[in-house]
Amino acid sequence: MSTEYGNIPEETIDAVLTQHDIVETVGRHVHLTKQGKYMKGLCPFHSEKTPSFTVTPDRQIFYCYGCGMGGNAIKFRMEIEGLSFPEAVKIMAEEAHIPFQNTAGKPESPQDRETGRLLQAYEWSEKFYHFLLKNTEHGRPALEYLRGRGIGDKMIDQFGIGFAPDRWDTLVQFLDKRSFDLAEMEKGGLISAKQNGDGYVDRFRGRIMFPIANRSGKTIAFAGRILGEGHPKYVNSPESRLFNKSRVLYNFGQARSAIRKQRQAVLFEGYGDVIAAWEAGVHNGVATMGTSLTDQHAAMIKTTADEVLVCYDGDNAGQNAALKSIPILEQAGLQVKIAMLPPGVDPDDYIRSNGGERFIRQVVEDAASTTKFRLANLRRGHRLTEESGRVDYARAALPVIAALSSPTEREVYLRELSSEVDVSFDSLKQDCNLIRQEQSRPAPGQEDPGPAYPGSKQGGRGGQYGGKGRDRGDYANKGGYGKKGNFGGGGNSEEDFFPQQRRARPNRDLLPAHQTAERRLLFFMLQDRQASDYVEQRLGNEFNLPEHAAISAYLYAFYAQDREPDSSRFISSLQDEKLEKAVSAIVMMEGPREWNEQVLDDCIREVRKVPQLRGIERKREEMMRAEKDGDFLLAARIASEIIALERQ
Ligand code: UTP
Ligand code: MN
Repeated sequence: MSTEYGNIPEETIDAVLTQHDIVETVGRHVHLTKQGKYMKGLCPFHSEKTPSFTVTPDRQIFYCYGCGMGGNAIKFRMEIEGLSFPEAVKIMAEEAHIPFQNTAGKPESPQDRETGRLLQAYEWSEKFYHFLLKNTEHGRPALEYLRGRGIGDKMIDQFGIGFAPDRWDTLVQFLDKRSFDLAEMEKGGLISAKQNGDGYVDRFRGRIMFPIANRSGKTIAFAGRILGEGHPKYVNSPESRLFNKSRVLYNFGQARSAIRKQRQAVLFEGYGDVIAAWEAGVHNGVATMGTSLTDQHAAMIKTTADEVLVCYDGDNAGQNAALKSIPILEQAGLQVKIAMLPPGVDPDDYIRSNGGERFIRQVVEDAASTTKFRLANLRRGHRLTEESGRVDYARAALPVIAALSSPTEREVYLRELSSEVDVSFDSLKQDCNLIRQEQSRPAPGQEDPGPAYPGSKQGGRGGQYGGKGRDRGDYANKGGYGKKGNFGGGGNSEEDFFPQQRRARPNRDLLPAHQTAERRLLFFMLQDRQASDYVEQRLGNEFNLPEHAAISAYLYAFYAQDREPDSSRFISSLQDEKLEKAVSAIVMMEGPREWNEQVLDDCIREVRKVPQLRGIERKREEMMRAEKDGDFLLAARIASEIIALERQ
């Protein structure tokens, strides 16, 4: 439960929450009207016409039934102003004249101190490089290069761009003079050790420096671009205790509030694209660090967006990378759209030659559905001027269309296909229906099985072309989709074709009984320490939902510190957006507020049923296997075990 940068003493957080009333805090942004115990208003975090945003004065928390955002006053400020937790606490403490000492009370761990020093060094280095670019002779060629590419002072400041002179020890000396421990700086990726082990040299020389920030806007790495052509084009900071490529998105900190407002992020491949798009007015753009998109990236985006517009280069590698990103994003529960750029053009080029307005109108607003994109991609791989090419294309395209749940959509794409391949609409439709029959597999909750990619989960998602420079060939070969026969009816492609469809927003009324029981337990536990103790003794952490198990563990720890029930304060001890939202939702649950042991026991029984039912299920399978093997004695024994379990 440690904070990201140093520890903020509990007393400070308590004082901040006491001084900042939730109704007042929210009221500055949302018009609230009283409704019984609650205040209601239009949610500032998603667009809505009827209010589902709720504030409870007596619990000091907010929760939106529409988008699931929730938390205490600190959380509200973080979200609305795009602040990190320590930043929000600091600002709120200052506003209320509460002394703010980051390290008071608890001694900082040596790791925390090292992290703090590194962050400081990165911040200074960034400023130093920026200064060198803008104000010195050394920086002039770089400045001219940037201007030549259309990156002016405004963007240079906005993105903190700098320049590392082509010398051996500019930064080494700078850091040394400021008494930074050079060995520590080397470990943190800012400088390099000399080959002979005797001293240090600059890691970045003669390069334009793009600072890379974490989600709260602190610089944690650099990407250094060569001026003009040359190899490697970029030198990136190595991974360090601060920097993990698979968890960092370029520009996420600055883009967060725009992403939140639009509920959409635009995903680019290059830093240059993000910057050009920003200048064109697209402020919700982010980019990976020259590596392929990871589940963590997708999860990061999902915390603030519902939709991602993938805007990769218009060449083969870019398009293949875009194809690969679709299942990753969809599995995180994001809607996906794909921008279609002319072949061989990247977003940066496009904006420079067509202007920002046209980029927004023709690329961003005109982005394709994933189906349209997939079909366009298949089309590229076939010669439609030849009959065999047309047949192959139709064969590949049909399963993609067949997988669509909307008959209207299917019809539209089939008509298009019909004219492209010169086959009658009716026969295509027949084929499509046949494929649908084969594909249809009744699975509960799978309403709209959008097509996914073969191997989306296990498939070689490698393609890391980070530090060593980018190897695009990797993409071109493993693209998967372009390959023939992936969808050709046979084999096990069907399995790959229907991913477990993400579930729509949790519907409070339709939660399974055990889940509701878990939530009710937590609801009472949050209100009352005795209820918590009671559940701890009987159920411990054996909640079925990992999220609930985590909340219970934190809650036991919270009470173990002799703290009073207080949902708002409990939430700030969590430091995890998902859990914060879940707790807020639970606190806002409707239903009886009184509890007794009978009520808790009923819930506990419901929760216990799940592992028991799973156990019975497993036994049934065992029994069947035994029967199949002809071991009837064993089967009979298992049967009686099952009966005993069921009686329980
Ligand atoms: P690009 O070659 O498209 O780079 O690579 P770019 O950022 O658009 O650069 P410009 O427009 O030529 O100046 C896309 C991304 O791949 C990573 C970087 O993250 C880059 O932004 N990359 C590329 C590297 O990490 N190293 C390289 O040597 C090249
Ligand atoms: Mn580029």
